[in-house]
Amino acid sequence: MLKETSSSSADRTEQMREIKNEVVALTGSPLYAYRKMNHYHPVIGEGSHHAKIMIVGEAPGRNEAETGRPFCGAAGKILDELLASIGIPRQDVYVTNIVKDRPPENRDPLPEEIAAYGPFLDRQIAVIQPKVIATLGRFSMVYVMEKFGLIDEMENISRAHGKVFTAHAPFGDLKIVPLYHPAASIYQQDLKETLRKDFQILKTIT
Ligand code: URA
Repeated sequence: MLKETSSSSADRTEQMREIKNEVVALTGSPLYAYRKMNHYHPVIGEGSHHAKIMIVGEAPGRNEAETGRPFCGAAGKILDELLASIGIPRQDVYVTNIVKDRPPENRDPLPEEIAAYGPFLDRQIAVIQPKVIATLGRFSMVYVMEKFGLIDEMENISRAHGKVFTAHAPFGDLKIVPLYHPAASIYQQDLKETLRKDFQILKTIT
């Protein structure tokens, strides 16, 4: 397949700004009223626009919605530790979520919420053109695997975690690595160990 030429930093910054402006103005989102009522911010994403690794979580929690920054609470602390354990600085990756606004009381995202915000994640992927997408938790695994036509290869996260799937994008091939969500490991030490082992894979495929 013909590869799209990579865009300049200025182009990427501009496209990301457009994405942000559109999410900020997303009055039709099922989570817009909840955002406004709580004086929350949408959480767009953070990191290098030239990242080789993109990390896709589920949805912002309270800390994230209060600050507008992804993974800045308890789950973010674990993500930082995991990245440190493989020697990858957080500013070198791009961290985002499928759903860009906090769902009430951190409940699971609803299909209509994923449908409302998914296209923005699609555009972020097209801007960054990552070599690897690491998904955190089952919602982002399902979304990203479906997006890249890998639904037939998909398994339950308890089997798929730490495996490497090859996907084809207009900008070239990339790897998808489903991982457990760091929040799930807060009270489960064995999951933290599994995440630590699985993260090693990111080091070897970039
Ligand atoms: N959990 C997520 O999935 N994303 C965040 O940004 C924070 C917690």
